[in-house]
Amino acid sequence: MIQFDILTLFPEMFAGVFDTSIIGRARERGFVEITLHNIRDYAPGKHRVTDDTPYGGGGGMIMKPEPIFYAVEAILNVEIPKEGYNKLHRQGYPPIVLLTPQGQPLGQPLVQKWVTDYERILFICGRYEGVDERVRQYLATDELSIGDYVLSGGEIAAMVMVDAMTRLIPGVLGDTEATTKDSHSDGLLEYPHYTRPAEFRGHGIPEILLSGHHANLEVWRRQQSLARTLARRPDLLTATDLSEADQSFLDSLPQNPAAGEDEGD
Ligand code: 6GU
Repeated sequence: MIQFDILTLFPEMFAGVFDTSIIGRARERGFVEITLHNIRDYAPGKHRVTDDTPYGGGGGMIMKPEPIFYAVEAILNVEIPKEGYNKLHRQGYPPIVLLTPQGQPLGQPLVQKWVTDYERILFICGRYEGVDERVRQYLATDELSIGDYVLSGGEIAAMVMVDAMTRLIPGVLGDTEATTKDSHSDGLLEYPHYTRPAEFRGHGIPEILLSGHHANLEVWRRQQSLARTLARRPDLLTATDLSEADQSFLDSLPQNPAAGEDEGD
């Protein structure tokens, strides 16, 4: 069981994603508990103001620190010390992840590490105009990004992270949906998949899939993964453990590989 707490100004954005399919089922079956917290509920004052203009000018609105600090204090039932939350984190309190395009880029190894290391994670969804810097300095233990592009807020990034982490919890996926063969799980892209019919609009499938020869099929799948990764994401190959057979297969491919393209069958 892993617990996710999501602090957001737009909790209504999450309904479909968290109530459906793998995540919805994982919640029902008790593998994961997701609690959405509306930051506005913790904003002081009659008008519950959550943002304000930046000191020094420059335009855009900035998320105020108080509602976010108050929300964390209420959720964890703790007072954040002046030195900052990191002191509590070192004592075993859960990590607080600020979602921002300035964060560390998420990859599959990092997803795996987070699921393994923690039983509870708090996410703060920032908006791209910005969050008061004191949230970074005295509250967030980590800053994560989902890629080098700008989203209007951290909400979609939080959905991405919760999805990526939830499907790695043992038991969440059935055996037949094992994650060990996923693209990126071993540093390579996945081999191509086919299902019935064996011929569709004159397009067949690779003959080996009909051969029933399991040893050859394993070799074929590995080689498809290697060729596809070389063609599409050669950057991934440098960080992957390759056997001698892998390496000599890659060496046998043409300099400008056509492998990994979908056309041509
Ligand atoms: Cl985590 N937040 C926002 N606002 N934009 C992003 C992002 C996060 N990751 C990539 N782009």
